[in-house]
This record gives sequence, structure tokens and C-alpha cells, in this order.
Amino acid sequence: MKNYLLGIDVGTTGAKTLLVDETGAVVAEALTEYPMFTPKPLWAEQNPEDWWRGTVQSIRKVLEQSGTKKEQIVCLGLTGQMHGLVLMDARGDVLRPCIMWNDQRTASQCAEITKEVGAQRILELTGNPLFPNFTAPKIAWVRQNEPEIFKRVVKVLLPKDYVRYRITGEFFSEVSDASGTSLFDVASRQWSDEMLKIFHIPRQWLPQVSESVEATATVSVQAANETGLLQGTPVVGGAGDQAAQAVGSGIVADGMSSVTIGTSGVVFVACKKYLREPEGRLHAFCHAVPGMWHFMGVMLSAGGSFRWYRDTLGELEKANAKNTGANPYDLLTEAAAKVPAGSEGLIFLPYLSGERTPYPDPNARGVFFGLTLRHTKAHLTRSVIEGVTFGLRDSLELVRSLGLHISGIRVSGGGARSALWGQIIADIFNQDIFKVTVTQGAAYGAAILAGVGAGIFNRVEDACDRVIKVVDRTEPGPDAKVYAEYYQRYRALYPVLKEEFAKISALIQSES
Ligand code: XUL
Repeated sequence: MKNYLLGIDVGTTGAKTLLVDETGAVVAEALTEYPMFTPKPLWAEQNPEDWWRGTVQSIRKVLEQSGTKKEQIVCLGLTGQMHGLVLMDARGDVLRPCIMWNDQRTASQCAEITKEVGAQRILELTGNPLFPNFTAPKIAWVRQNEPEIFKRVVKVLLPKDYVRYRITGEFFSEVSDASGTSLFDVASRQWSDEMLKIFHIPRQWLPQVSESVEATATVSVQAANETGLLQGTPVVGGAGDQAAQAVGSGIVADGMSSVTIGTSGVVFVACKKYLREPEGRLHAFCHAVPGMWHFMGVMLSAGGSFRWYRDTLGELEKANAKNTGANPYDLLTEAAAKVPAGSEGLIFLPYLSGERTPYPDPNARGVFFGLTLRHTKAHLTRSVIEGVTFGLRDSLELVRSLGLHISGIRVSGGGARSALWGQIIADIFNQDIFKVTVTQGAAYGAAILAGVGAGIFNRVEDACDRVIKVVDRTEPGPDAKVYAEYYQRYRALYPVLKEEFAKISALIQSES
């Protein structure tokens, strides 16, 4: 009887479950979407109950589609959106909606605590600065703004770890996701007592932390009934979505790197020892591979910018796609491919949810700069793709400034599907880029981690060697020269607009 693994991704747009066999082949997949709410400017929230409903549905769907028997599933791996804050009371009920990874409400908490403790000390303790999107400042925000809720808190969980609680009834996290809380000592791979003290957080509020490949809990009776899984099936630590995505693309050896265009956009480099960027401009986190770390730069709206664009300006393509069965993104990119590189002077700044890397600025905003009568919708589309890629190059430049050698970059995520976007990445990065066999990203990485936990693979590195192969290479073309100029113009815009972003943000907040 064949063994199977499940990778479950509690993503931003939906819960995805992947069924993978012991050779690494994807047998079935299902996605259940759920909404995100922005009740105020800069806020982003989701309902943890929606994650659970989505997870149950997607697990049930893959079991039905594939006809796999529950006894054949030997292990589960969890992954998901990072940094989100889930607060629970003593009865195990969720106290308020999750404050998500792209929520920017905690700028003043970050500034206050950084002033009190010192930026350098926070860097030493956690490897990273305090970012408004990270978890601990959100706890400080709830303490200050929702004291009635804060009084009832007994547990703090990250999104995938909340789903783990629903699957197993146990409280666990793992090193890669814990790295993004501002409460974790990334160098020694454990909670930082000093950071807990700074944030007045009792140790027992936090779950125990394991390595990503360790099986720490099993499917409960109740979850078995709801999902159709077998009670007692082991669940490994899993990983935050970026570390899992890296595993799913085979980024598991020193110096290997990737760029991922999901809702967020990430440049990721694996490292065999703990290092940190002197000013904390790149995140320094634990990798899901035991004994490894990674750097990453995170832009908040990468694929998210393109989705916003499709939803606000792509009505026509959406309608055409509905009639013809095409994909609206393909219709948009087909037209954009006919526009010259640089979109004839039109530059898009992708700061639709503020930004994190390289500008940790909640007030930053999206911009179309340089519009003229000559510009068409196809120019707008192309400039969105180019602007997101310029933003990713900003992270790449930070990596290059550390002297880390980048040999080839593997591209993944929804954005990687488009040939045009792939060429634009190679041109703007002026670097060869590669695609790999499996494009299932984080959920696939989570399934690989489950495979190691179940003993199907010896180590994460062996699993990746066996199941992930490079299938496509794109080299920089003649447009690389044009983009070298345009990148300088892109880079010049944020510093010029920074003050105005803050002013317009203050104006909007005073109106709300
Ligand atoms: C990583 C980050 C995002 C989220 C959502 O630091 O904030 O990638 O994990 O995907």
C-alpha cells in the first residue's frame, strides 16, 4: 500500500491542501478561498474560523478526489501566512479577528518600544528590527487599545499554529514562523526571555517550539471526524510560508536563492550559519532545514499589486475571460508584452499596503508616475509588473551588498507562471533565473517536511535532491540595459515622496 503526505497551507487568499505520494508526485490539490477585511486604513484582518472551515473543506476535497484511504496518509505538514496574531481565551475561543502579516496599525508601538529598548539591542536579541507587521507589536497594540480583550488572553498563536491547534488540540510552533514574532532569539532557535519581558508577555502564553521536521502532535478524534483524516496521524512542525516555499523550490543549501511572487514578494537566501544584516534591512530567520538560517527581503504587495490591478482595472479582461475560458491575467499580460520595456516612461510604485523591505514604512503608497496621453492600459499593466520587479531588485541589492554570492535564482509563486514576468525578472535582475519541476510552493514544502518527519526521506536536503529538478532557464535579454536606467529612476522616487506619503496618510486617518 502506497504512503501519502499532506501539505496544508493557511494562505492569505485561501486554505490549500496538497496530497503528495512517497515519490514526491502531487496526486491531488484543493483550495478553499476566504475573505480578508480592512475595517480601517492600514488594517488587515481575517477570521480564524474561516481558515479552519477552509482547511476542513480542502482536506475533504483531496481525499474525495483522489480516493486515498485515510490510513495511507502517514504525516501532515502545516504552513501558512506568517506574523499574524491569534489571541485565545481560557476556553480555547478566539478573542478577536487575526491581525494579519500585512496589517500596518502598530507603527507607534514599534517606535515607542524601539526608543525604550534601543534599535541595536532589539537587533541583537532577535536578529531583526521591530516591524509593524510582526506579531509582538500587535500584542502591544491590543494591550493599549482593547484592554477588555487583552485581560482574557491565555494563548498567542500564529495562523498555521492555530490550525494545528484545531487539528491536534495541542499548542506548538516551530522555528521558522517563530522567527517573525519579534519574541524569538533567531540565533539560538528559542523564545527570547528578554523580549518576552519587554513586551510583558508570560512565557506560558506562547506555544512550545520545535524544528520544522519534528512530529510534535497527532490528529485528534474531533478533527478526525471533521476532516476525514485518521485519528493519531502525526503532524510535523512545518514552516512559515516563505521557509516552506523555499523547501518546495529546493532552496536548502548555503547560498541558494529564490524569488517568490505570491501576494507578497520575497527574495530569499539560505545560509548555513546565523548571520544578520548590520542594520536589519533584510530579515534574518531560522530556515525550516535544521541547522540552517535564511535572509529575506519582503515586499508587501507583489502579486497583491497585480491582483488589485486586475480587480480594479481589469473588468473587461475578467468578462472576456469568463466568456472564453481564458485567464484574465494572461489577457492582461499578452497586451503588456507588446509595450516596450520601461513602459515608455511610466513607473509604478507597488506600495499598496505600505512597505517593509527596503523601506519599512506603513505610510508608503502606490503610485503611477509619468502618465502621458500616449499611455494605454497595456502600459499600465506592464508598469505594474515592472514596478513590482524593481521593488524585488531592491531586496536583491541588499543581498548583493552583503557580499553573498548568488549563483542562480529560482522563481516561484503565481507571478512565475507568466513568461513575460519571468523575462522581466531576468532583465531587471540582470541575472539568469530558473524554474523547477513543482510549482506548488509552500504546501509542497510542508509535504516534504512531513515526509522527513515520517521517515520517508532522511533529510530535507535529500528529499529536495530527489524530487525537485530545474526545468527552465531564462537569461537576461537586450532589455536589461533599458531596465538598468529605469531602475535608477524607480529608486529615486520613494525618497522624494516619503514626506508626502506621511502627510496623505495622516489626512486620511484624520478623516476616518
Ligand atoms: C513574510 C510575510 C509574507 C506572509 C504572507 O515575512 O510577511 O510572506 O508570510 O505570505
